[in-house]
Amino acid sequence: SQALRVGLAGLGTVGGAVFRLLSEKAGMLAARAGRPIAVTAVCARDRMRDRGLDLGTVTWYGDPVAMARDADIDIFVEVMGGGDGPAAAAVEAALAAGRSVVTANKALLATRGVALARLAEASGATIGYEAAVAGGIPIIKTLREAVVGNRVSRVYGILNGTCNYILTRMEEGLSFQECLADAQRLGYAEADPTFDIEGHDSAHKLAILAALAFGTEIDTASIHLEGISSITPADLSAAEELGYRIKLLGVARRTESGIEQRVTPTMVPLVSAMAGIHGVLNAVAVDGDEVGEIMLVGPGAGGTATASAVVGDIVDIARGGPRPATFGQPAQTLTPYRAARMRA
Ligand code: HSE
Repeated sequence: SQALRVGLAGLGTVGGAVFRLLSEKAGMLAARAGRPIAVTAVCARDRMRDRGLDLGTVTWYGDPVAMARDADIDIFVEVMGGGDGPAAAAVEAALAAGRSVVTANKALLATRGVALARLAEASGATIGYEAAVAGGIPIIKTLREAVVGNRVSRVYGILNGTCNYILTRMEEGLSFQECLADAQRLGYAEADPTFDIEGHDSAHKLAILAALAFGTEIDTASIHLEGISSITPADLSAAEELGYRIKLLGVARRTESGIEQRVTPTMVPLVSAMAGIHGVLNAVAVDGDEVGEIMLVGPGAGGTATASAVVGDIVDIARGGPRPATFGQPAQTLTPYRAARMRA
């Protein structure tokens, strides 16, 4: 049967890993998807850079919008990052042309997700964004499919691998700056790591999770936000003496007056499951009225883990069939986000 033609925009840590996975496991993926999956176009700024990838037969684009609009592709995979600018314009162009999109771009979804969902619905395309939240952890599929019979009261967790890595290594005695440099070297951090350490990246992910869990529009602006840049080794040891560990948690919960969302450094009891989440791992817990509390743990950042989620979405689209609506229900039917009254 006909190959699914993939256009891959972005050849950084994640893009390189996606390209490698699709070529190294081409036979296995073709069997599982029921058709071959082939990268036929790529887009990145610097064509000459040696990435260790065999790009011999693919069409090269310098402009992602041109690739989204013009290339002979069935699916546009966006792993460039950045909420505004080229990634946003390219995803819009792809959806407007009726092409399905797979994206790892949480900043983009957190700011324009509902508009993009409506655009996709209007053009009959799909947006897959499993990789945008918590890297390799399948939390989007879990919320959209597995717990759809539940009324969810709370979704929370450790949503940024870089921050969790920094907090874990600081407990071992390293300085904040050393830990951050490590996280950057390992390919965990955002291009601008301020997004990680000031909590914006966690906030983007939390807003997406809350929208899925509660069936509302995405509202990133109402999140109460505090990052980890002012946490000191003294804070960590003081917490430990009291029987706690400091984790950057994102929490969204349903209250009587509306939805409350926050991203803050939080003292969690040393005996709790969240306290045992070390390094680049993320953890997401969901409270459902039928299932109770479930928790998913796994690598929240890094090339191969994120590529695993991207490729899962690509195979999903290759298989075709009825697609779950973008935010768990048609974007047309999402209720407006209603922020809880904050207690003083
Ligand atoms: N910079 C992000 C993190 C990457 O550290 O979690 C995954 O979204």
